[in-house]
Amino acid sequence: METLMRNVFQSLGKNAAAHKLAKRYGLRFGAGRFVAGETIRQAIEAVRTLNADGRIATLDHLGEFVSSEAEAREAAEMCIKTLEAIAEAGVNANLSLKMTSLGLDISKELCMQHMRSILACAKSRGNFVRIDMEDYSHCQVTLDILRELRQEYDNVGTVIQAYLYRSEQDIRDLNDIRANLRLVKGAYKEPAEVAFPDKADVDANYKKLIKLHLDNGNYTAIASHDEQIIEDAKRYIRERGIPGDRFEFQMLYGIREDLQRRLVQEGYKVRVYVPYGVDWFGYFMRRLAERPANVWFVLKNLFK
Ligand code: FDA
Repeated sequence: METLMRNVFQSLGKNAAAHKLAKRYGLRFGAGRFVAGETIRQAIEAVRTLNADGRIATLDHLGEFVSSEAEAREAAEMCIKTLEAIAEAGVNANLSLKMTSLGLDISKELCMQHMRSILACAKSRGNFVRIDMEDYSHCQVTLDILRELRQEYDNVGTVIQAYLYRSEQDIRDLNDIRANLRLVKGAYKEPAEVAFPDKADVDANYKKLIKLHLDNGNYTAIASHDEQIIEDAKRYIRERGIPGDRFEFQMLYGIREDLQRRLVQEGYKVRVYVPYGVDWFGYFMRRLAERPANVWFVLKNLFK
């Protein structure tokens, strides 16, 4: 039953018609628990609240799988507006983005052009941009683009997914550019040809990748709500005396706030991923797929 629900949410998350419909009707079904709002102002307010108790943030203007150049340009402009709003408000946040929203599926050149303007804007404001990792079909091109951009900009990093067999080699290869990486389990539905089908294998690989990247001396964002993973990382960091400016923990907006606060109290750097915007549907479906128990939460909101 759980697998069935997971598959339904993952397929819905890729459905363009459902995305359009959701956009038209606004934040619904309790999506507001995971999405900070539809406007920049609401997103900045959410960051202010997080900053007030010591948590920092990464803002994501939601959007993915755009099909026209105009939509891609609009998404790039929103990224720049978000960076400007962060600077104007003086809040502690950087930017996360998805390159399919910048026209990656239209052409790599178009996406690179947008990435360069976004990175130049971030650089002039002393800020950093994280390229989220999307489904497997975009993995290689994402890493290729990161490599190219790193020749011009040092304020960019990406994400590596522990469920992919290739990730260990990718981390080893990315060592030559001292890549700043967010390490995650992986949120998309991938076939067994490319990804570990069993959760236990994903978890074991995740622990291994965290240690590998930390040992390489590169900046490591450990992005998980899994206490076992977090405890394992904390233990390793303590044993190896890894300094606090080499790593951070990251969690998603609205998930395990108790754990976020506890880590801050223990003195760790905690960054919360704060998504906002009208294109919330795909993001929301991935959060439901990760934890089908969340569906009760959706049902409750249907009748509100
Ligand atoms: P796991 O799924 O095992 O969950 C551990 C525990 O966390 C659960 O038992 C539950 O308590 C809680 N939990 C997890 N998900 C929940 C949810 N949706 N609702 C309520 N509770 C939940 N993926 C990707 O493919 N590309 C990317 O770029 C990113 N970026 C990213 C940024 C940040 C900051 C985070 C935290 C995560 C991502 N992810 C991602 C998503 C990631 O791949 C993964 O799907 C989720 O983090 C869930 O995995 P956990 O490591 O939390 O463990």
